[in-house]
Amino acid sequence: MKKSITVILGDGIGPEVTEQSIKILNAVGEQFGHEFTYDYQLMGAVAIDETGNPLPDATIESALKTDAVLFGAIGHPKYDNDPSAKVRPEQGLLKLRSSLQLFANIRPVITYPALSHLSPLKPEKMEGVDFVIFRELTGGIYFGEKKINEEKTEASDLCSYTRPEIERIAHLAFQYAARPERRKKLTLVDKANVLETSRLWRKVVQDIAPSYPDIAVDYMFVDNAAMQIIVNPKQFDVVLTENMFGDIISDESSVLSGSLGLLPSSSVGTGTVLFEPIHGSYPQAAGKDIANPIGSILSAAMMLEHFQMNEEAALVRKAVAWTLAQGFVSQDIDNVNNYGTSVIGDLIKDFIEQKIPADVN
Ligand code: IPM
Ligand code: MN
Repeated sequence: MKKSITVILGDGIGPEVTEQSIKILNAVGEQFGHEFTYDYQLMGAVAIDETGNPLPDATIESALKTDAVLFGAIGHPKYDNDPSAKVRPEQGLLKLRSSLQLFANIRPVITYPALSHLSPLKPEKMEGVDFVIFRELTGGIYFGEKKINEEKTEASDLCSYTRPEIERIAHLAFQYAARPERRKKLTLVDKANVLETSRLWRKVVQDIAPSYPDIAVDYMFVDNAAMQIIVNPKQFDVVLTENMFGDIISDESSVLSGSLGLLPSSSVGTGTVLFEPIHGSYPQAAGKDIANPIGSILSAAMMLEHFQMNEEAALVRKAVAWTLAQGFVSQDIDNVNNYGTSVIGDLIKDFIEQKIPADVN
């Protein structure tokens, strides 16, 4: 099979982790006879530096044409503490999400037995934790009207949702919960005791639920959900939520596995699908070859699955689990005995190419 991929390295550690994914995709291509072609494009602080625009038109045009987008990370500290900056790297990602209509962000919370000692939770709480967050990605407070008065004494961000915006992601989440490998449970996370938008989410989900009679639905306020993720994470299967709540609870959930650096995501919509690790640009580590490439590599595995290359995706996941089980981990996971970004990429690649001796398999 031939597949074209728009590659957006982005900022901070984005380039070095994405480079490992390209290595892995090329190794998979060799092993299975696929041809992946890459179109490198700019977005984020690097794009502002080079073009003045966090999302140049060429990047959108490429993304609309290719079969998938692989994205690294976005953000630079020089913008974080400058509230009056007119142009910000993050605007690039938000505009790309809306240009490609990437309305659903899927974030699987994966845990590895080999890393259970790193979780902030006790091992018995972690056993069997396996849930997926469906975060709405192109609506809500992120995209509502923003205002600040001239005196800079009052500001507002509007949170609004329409029924169709909720329905389309809710259907995806219900269908996902119905997959054979899932436990047929969907939890809507909202703040329906306070917010009108949340009450609309609840109403829409209640209206849709009868079309999925096999799925058990429950409803949870976001403050309670934030607590339940820590006290009883096993109870979750598919979690559906709006944009901002999803942003927050997915970072919270990611550390259950031991490191934010491990988790992948896909963003799906009406056209090209985007794949990215959920971590940020980690500027302190940029260029040092110490960042964890696994969030990006598992995002590439999600991309392979999207291409219907299931055996290929499974092999990549097996290779990742093998490196973790062998203790070939990066600094975020083990501060003393650790390996560099590119060494971990090479080990995963070697496993895929079967250069790993059978006795350690
Ligand atoms: C994420 C990030 C983004 C978000 C930022 C970089 C705009 O935190 O993908 O979770 O808030 O959506
Ligand atoms: Mn986030």
